[in-house]
Order: sequence, then C-alpha cells, then structure tokens
Amino acid sequence: MIKISGVRIVVIGGGSSYTPELMSGLLKAQDLPVESVTLVDVPEGKEKLETVRLFCQRLIDEAGSSIQLQTALDRHEALAQADFVLSQFRAGGLEARARDERIPLRYGAIGQETVGAGGFANALRTIPVTIGLARELESANPDAWLINFTNPSGMVTEALLRHTRVRSIGLCNVPITIERTIAQALQVPPEAVSLDFFGLNHLSFARGVYVNGKNITPLVLEFLKSPQTQVANIPDQQWDRDVLDAVGMLPNPYLQYYWNPGEMLSREQSAMAAGKGTRANEVMAVEKSLFQAYQDPGQRTLPEALMQRGGAYYSTVAVMLIESLALNRRREIVVNVRNGHALPELPESSVVEVPAVVDGRGAVALECGPMPASVRGLIQQVKAYEELTIEAAMTGSRKTALTALMNNPLVPSAGAAAKILEDILQENAAFLPQFAV
Ligand code: G6P
Repeated sequence: MIKISGVRIVVIGGGSSYTPELMSGLLKAQDLPVESVTLVDVPEGKEKLETVRLFCQRLIDEAGSSIQLQTALDRHEALAQADFVLSQFRAGGLEARARDERIPLRYGAIGQETVGAGGFANALRTIPVTIGLARELESANPDAWLINFTNPSGMVTEALLRHTRVRSIGLCNVPITIERTIAQALQVPPEAVSLDFFGLNHLSFARGVYVNGKNITPLVLEFLKSPQTQVANIPDQQWDRDVLDAVGMLPNPYLQYYWNPGEMLSREQSAMAAGKGTRANEVMAVEKSLFQAYQDPGQRTLPEALMQRGGAYYSTVAVMLIESLALNRRREIVVNVRNGHALPELPESSVVEVPAVVDGRGAVALECGPMPASVRGLIQQVKAYEELTIEAAMTGSRKTALTALMNNPLVPSAGAAAKILEDILQENAAFLPQFAV
C-alpha cells in the first residue's frame, strides 16, 4: 500500500507507559508522513491516557512536528479512519499480571507473563479481546494493518490470522534488541548486523549472526559465556557454557525459563518469600516513577526509567515495519507471521518468529530450512501448547485448556496443570466470560 496522503495511526492501549517511546520513534521517522496518532484506551485508564497525551504533545511540540494527536475512549471512529492499528494493551492490567505470575508458584511452576502458565492465563484473557478488535476492523476498515505487540504476541497474532480476516503482523522487541546490542558491542551500524533467526515468540534462536555478511556466531557465543545483562525484565542468568557449545546457536533470553527452570523458579520463590513479589510489582514501581515524570510539565524527553522496562527498542521495530508497509520500502525484519513453509516441521498455519521480507504488500516469511533436532522438539511441543491455548481461549473449553497446560514444558505435571487451571479460571472469572458455566 503506498500512501499518498498522511498516515493515520491508532494505538490500542494508548495510555501505556511505552506510548511516549513509540511517539518518539514516529517523530524520528523523517520519511514517514504521519498525519495523526489517536491514543485509545478504556474508561478506567482515562487519567493515564490524558497524562500520556499531554507528555506526547510536548514531545511533538519539541520536535516541531505537525502530527495531530488525539485520544478516544470510543475507538470506532478512529478505527474506521486508521491506516495502522497498533495493539499494545494488557487485559486486566498489571493486577492481572501479578496473578499470572503468582498462581503457578503455588504449584511449583514458573510464574511469567508470556511463557508458562502465566502466559497461558494472559492469552485466555487477551485473545477474545483482540478478536473483538479485529471484528470491528473487519467491518469498519478491512484494509487497515493490525500490528500486534500485545502479549503473548505470537499466540495473539496466530489467533488473529486463524480466526479473522484482518491483515495482521506480530512484533516483539527481543530480536531487534539482540541485533542492536551486537551492533553496539562491535561498534558497527545496526544495519550491518543480520540474524539467521527462527522459532516462536519468546522461544527463538539465531543459528547464524552476521556482520556485513561475515559469520561471527562463534565470537558472539563466546561473549554470551561471560556474565552480561540480557533484557531488563529477565533476571541476569549465566548461560551454561557446555549448553551454548552443544547447541551452537544464540538463544532468545527467554530460553532461560526453558533451560534453567529450577534456578528461575527458585529465584521467583525467594523473591516472594522476601516480600518483593513478582516482576509485576517491580513494574508497578517503575510505572509510578514513569508517570510522575510524564506528569511533570518540564519533562520534554523520554525519562531514563523507561530503560528499566523490558520493551526497549519496541518503537524502533514498529516504525521500521510501518515504514516498509506504508512506503513500500522493502526490508527484512524479524516478525511474527504465518509460517507457510518457513519452518517445515510446523503446520503452515502456525505463527512463527522468523525473518520476513516486508514491503507494501505485507510480510512474507523467509524459508529457514529444517530446524536442528537440538531444539526442534521443544519448539514443536510449545507450538502444540499454543494451538491448544488459542482453541481454549476461543471456545472456553476447560478440557482443551487443561490439555494446553499439560503440554506446556514449564508446568511440572498434569496434576499441577489441573490445579493451576482451576485457580486461573477462578481468579480471572471477570475476564473469562467464555469459561462461565
Ligand atoms: C520483553 C518482551 C516483551 C515483554 C517485556 C516485559 O522485552 O519482549 O514481550 O512484554 O519484556 O517487560 P516488563 O518491563 O513489562 O517486565
């Protein structure tokens, strides 16, 4: 799609603390003719939405931009006019995330917002809401692009592509964070780095890391053996040297949960025992300081505190994607898209996290070739879990939901799965009408 007039962007979850980073990214995108940005949120988020609007307006004024910024609690008109709809909401807010991270701990399972049983609960709440958004777009504006950032991003995107007709592409900030971290470490421009990436969202690998076409994978693996900070939201973990040598690929930081579940679980349990709560509680504290900064009329740049959130670089990849789609600017971006034949061992209708060629027509996954046996089984099992989770979210079937959790490698047993499911359904009843008996 080549836009002649200005580009109209709608942000669902516009009151998010991430929105100013997105606005900053849009303001830097000199070639992208953004006409308007409409921040949409729910009535209970009205105050946060207004705070974000005022801060984003200051960013616009500082940049001397003519972008028209508005907010809406009723999204229908904005959706009807949109070229791009960015979805970045959290169904149930941080309170629901805290439950997602605590319930599994009761039964010896990892509590995390996107993987494991926590990601499962998040998906059950989020998928129906996202489908509702897509239904509105189907009737009001079927040509719009729905760019999904809402977690668990891979599953949410797969639900959209399986069950609706909207044009949707899923994003995650981890692949670009890995690329940019390598570029910074090697002091080369970002575009010099490319990753031979494959897998699922938050369960992916780079089997090759290239700088200006030179394979530097062994160098990067050596670097990973030394302690280093991965992403802000995952506790720093030492990769096992033998594991890195054996697998010979750069793992997504979320592999810590799959390869070191015992260590990650005990860290979470210790934090709970020490009264520190879970990551959701850390984020609530960061959110408080971020919104204090956003409310300050003198705040005219992004606060440093944003780097304490895990979503760094999310605006960079979002703007790259929108530029390629709106300006027909062909580039390769790691996104969450329909598998087709990219990973031959997964169903064609799966959503996978792979490099795709993006231009005005959309994103088409590159064929990655067969997955190595060292990680293929784990990826296939998690994809089975994801498929069952999407089905459970769409149907409200408790049986399907239980088999989904039983297939999640971060849930220790079928018995634990049954108990975790019961607690999730009970404590999220207000957000899970599809399971009401
Ligand atoms: C990572 C993931 C995101 C996730 C975020 C959580 O970057 O890619 O999908 O939402 O971290 O960060 P938070 O600060 O909310 O724990």
